[in-house]
Amino acid sequence: MALVTTTRLLEDARRGGYAVGAFNANNLEIVQAIVEAAREEGAAVIIQASQGAIKYAGIEYITAMVRAAAEGLDIPMALHLDHGTDFGQVMRCIRHGFTSVMIDGSALPFEENVALTARVVEVAHAVGVSVEGELGRIGGTEDDVSVSDREATLTDPEEARRFVELTGVDCLAVAIGTAHGFYRGKPQLDFDRLKEIRDAVDVPLVLHGASGVPDEDVRMAISLGIAKINIDTELRHAFVSALRARLEELPREIDPRKLLAPAREAMKEKVREKIRLFGQRGS
Ligand code: G3H
Ligand code: ZN
Repeated sequence: MALVTTTRLLEDARRGGYAVGAFNANNLEIVQAIVEAAREEGAAVIIQASQGAIKYAGIEYITAMVRAAAEGLDIPMALHLDHGTDFGQVMRCIRHGFTSVMIDGSALPFEENVALTARVVEVAHAVGVSVEGELGRIGGTEDDVSVSDREATLTDPEEARRFVELTGVDCLAVAIGTAHGFYRGKPQLDFDRLKEIRDAVDVPLVLHGASGVPDEDVRMAISLGIAKINIDTELRHAFVSALRARLEELPREIDPRKLLAPAREAMKEKVREKIRLFGQRGS
């Protein structure tokens, strides 16, 4: 099946009351782990590559691997740029066949974020590519941030309404208390804010930094409008832990396949666990 846009996947998700998993990939084994888990679960899936992943693997390899994976697959899949910050890089991804891009202008003042995002939307929509914008700061692990500082970084519902209206984005990444990477304590998600944002905008919402968020909070977030959930850290952890164990088990092994296969398997099981948590019933 040809790659599809995230807009299509997220519309289905909203109708079905589930979220689509967006998993970060940067090499062959990771692409295979994600696609195999999704295929076995009969679930739609988003493979996303960050600017760093593209730099590491090369955009030609990323797109070729994902296209090869999509061929002969009967589940819908999108290829998405994660946290694009540069207009030129976003255009490059569109030209290479990404079906969805994120333009992350969240570090910019509101008006500049709007201008950059609207510029991307205009081009992307002209060629049928979906756009994710971000408003509010998701940041790294930030347990030490004070409550008032935290408030200032979270997405403001009224600003979200204006942002969506002014830019025409297809989905919106919101800051409601999650952070990228491992959490030191239990993340405190602001569900009242999420509800207000959901009531203020009519596009699907995206949860970043979802690794380590307790299952019940993930379910609650989905019930309040989250339709795309980004997971990276937990996948890396599963992969590298299994690889470390294998290296210890076979210290003399020099065949990368024998070392990487169990890591790929561990990651696949983690993807499966997340797909089930996100509530998508296989077809
Ligand atoms: O954009 C990617 C994600 O937000 C992943 O966050 O590394 O905390 O799972 P995570
Ligand atoms: Zn993110």
